[in-house]
Amino acid sequence: MAERTVTVTDNTSGRQIELPIRRSVQGPDAVDIGRFFRELGYFTYDPGFLSTASCHSTLTYLDGEQGQLMYRGYPIEQLAVKSSFLEVAYLMMYGELPTGKQLEDFTHIIVHHSMINEALKSFFRGFYHDAHPMAIMVGVVGSLSAFYHDSTDINNASHREIAAHRMIAKMPTIAAASYKHSIGEPQVYPVNSLSYTGNLLHMMFSIPCEEYVVDPVAEQALDLIFILHIDHEQNASTSTVRLAGSSGANPFACIASGIAALWGPAHGGANEAVLTMLNEIGDVKNIPGFLARAKDKKDPFRLMGFGHRVYKNYDPRARIIREMCHKVLSQLGDANDPMFELALRLEEIALNDDYFIERKLYPNVDFYSGLIYKALGIPTNMFTVMFAIARTVGWVAQWMEMIGEENQRIGRPRQLYVGPTQRDYVPIDRR
Ligand code: SDX
Repeated sequence: MAERTVTVTDNTSGRQIELPIRRSVQGPDAVDIGRFFRELGYFTYDPGFLSTASCHSTLTYLDGEQGQLMYRGYPIEQLAVKSSFLEVAYLMMYGELPTGKQLEDFTHIIVHHSMINEALKSFFRGFYHDAHPMAIMVGVVGSLSAFYHDSTDINNASHREIAAHRMIAKMPTIAAASYKHSIGEPQVYPVNSLSYTGNLLHMMFSIPCEEYVVDPVAEQALDLIFILHIDHEQNASTSTVRLAGSSGANPFACIASGIAALWGPAHGGANEAVLTMLNEIGDVKNIPGFLARAKDKKDPFRLMGFGHRVYKNYDPRARIIREMCHKVLSQLGDANDPMFELALRLEEIALNDDYFIERKLYPNVDFYSGLIYKALGIPTNMFTVMFAIARTVGWVAQWMEMIGEENQRIGRPRQLYVGPTQRDYVPIDRR
């Protein structure tokens, strides 16, 4: 088939170039602009990367207009109902759903990497008691490369695989230890007989003085939420992990950079910000005032949990979480939780408001997830940590995909310089 191209003409110089179009399997094709600067002398300019594909990937596909999300071709709606977090983790790492034996072996590997080096325990004590758990996560995960010299040769495929297993396995243990430090309770070791999410709940909520029984509703709810958060194409934190990885940094440092990027309230920090916002709104009668602030360009306030760079339709994850939220609240929390009622009313009012309709601002994955975490007894400052645990699967899968490429190169964007032209230094006594 003849190569499809686009023609670019510089109307100033009259120069014209043909740029090849790279075909996608699904969704928009991409114009390869690799020769653009060399042949036309211009950079392309796209702050925020609204129209820019930074890579090609086989992992996750999403369609913002259709509100569609697939992991390795499997619709999120099917995986959410039929799969499990570790099964989807296997799918993301290896490209196919595992057989029973493959899943059993993978689970055994993850379970047996869940402990952290005993020397790491003192790291947590070094943080102030009221340190935000995300601050602890960034620090401790970044330090893992100091312990695992046997899996940081990124050019060795088996090192990459071991590092990925270790990251997926240890995130719950580090997260729970961060939480325990913030409440002054002793760290709890993982229990190999528990499920991935059951172990996390056990490490967070059990205390030495009494037996802790994992609530199956909480365990299943967390597993489902984690599936929905595993990956999401080239979002801010995943792009951060890829850029860090492109320099050859070790995998633990790359994941730490992803955790740092996820923390922002415009990204993964939004789930915590939603609960803070709902608390601030307090009552349905205050909603109009907050909507007015959200529309006021002079006011930095945004409606947390609404809007998305890609989804210009309902975030499919939000739809799934919304349905589950009611079930969890009725089984675990307070079915008439005023926060949930307030969230439903806020959503209803916003979705009928012209400002939100014109801008296609719908609830995103973060709008309801915090309400479920709250019903599970997870404190607000741990919400983004939950997101980071789940997204570690996507981060390691995206990192492995990039590092495994033949002609992988360091990511190094250019800029449109708008600073001062050259000028000479002025001695201080003449300024
Ligand atoms: C996640 O990228 C991903 O995939 C992320 C994520 C993932 O899984 O990795 O899906 C997870 O981060 C979800 C998003 C969580 N963030 C929030 O809920 C924070 C609130 N949302 C906004 O900050 C915002 O919607 C963003 C950051 C999510 C998207 O920002 P964009 O794409 O840069 O959109 P924009 O700011 O250009 O908005 C377009 C218009 C603007 O108004 P106009 O200039 O056209 O008049 O919509 C307005 C914005 O002011 N707008 C909002 C709004 N979001 C956008 N106005 C009020 N409240 C909002 N929440």
